[in-house]
Amino acid sequence: MNRILVMHGVNLNLFGKRDPKHYGTETLEDINGKLSALAGELGVEVSFFQSNYEGAFVERIQEAHGDGTAGIVLNAGAWTHYSYAIMDALAILSIPAVEVHMSNVHAREAFRHFSVLSAVTRGSIAGFGSGSYLLGLRAVVDLVKG
Ligand code: DQA
Repeated sequence: MNRILVMHGVNLNLFGKRDPKHYGTETLEDINGKLSALAGELGVEVSFFQSNYEGAFVERIQEAHGDGTAGIVLNAGAWTHYSYAIMDALAILSIPAVEVHMSNVHAREAFRHFSVLSAVTRGSIAGFGSGSYLLGLRAVVDLVKG
């Protein structure tokens, strides 16, 4: 069974408490629960990783090279906009990665309009709340299954 890794970056452990205007009231656990249910429907295995440490995030991406992960859905939070370290780690990956954001980053502050990760991901989905993650999972499963 294909294994998909869902990665949540910095501050995303606070979904549910943080800035509900942009991120709604669902917790990370709620979101992961919805993803697990969809993974069951799509016939893939899903695992989750969250960290507030950029180095730990990079190391998890590096591990995905050899641990049988077939594809990645990632929301790197604020790192999206400036982390060349995460960009480089993703660039080395041969499996597909899809970028997702809960909020519509393009309708927010200018610094959120640019993603350094978009150049090395297969595509990005933003603005649909937890639906962005669900669409991201569908997209990566399509890519993996060809
Ligand atoms: C976010 C958007 C980023 O700009 C922000 O820094 C986040 C969350 C989103 O899911 O909408 O932490 O990635």
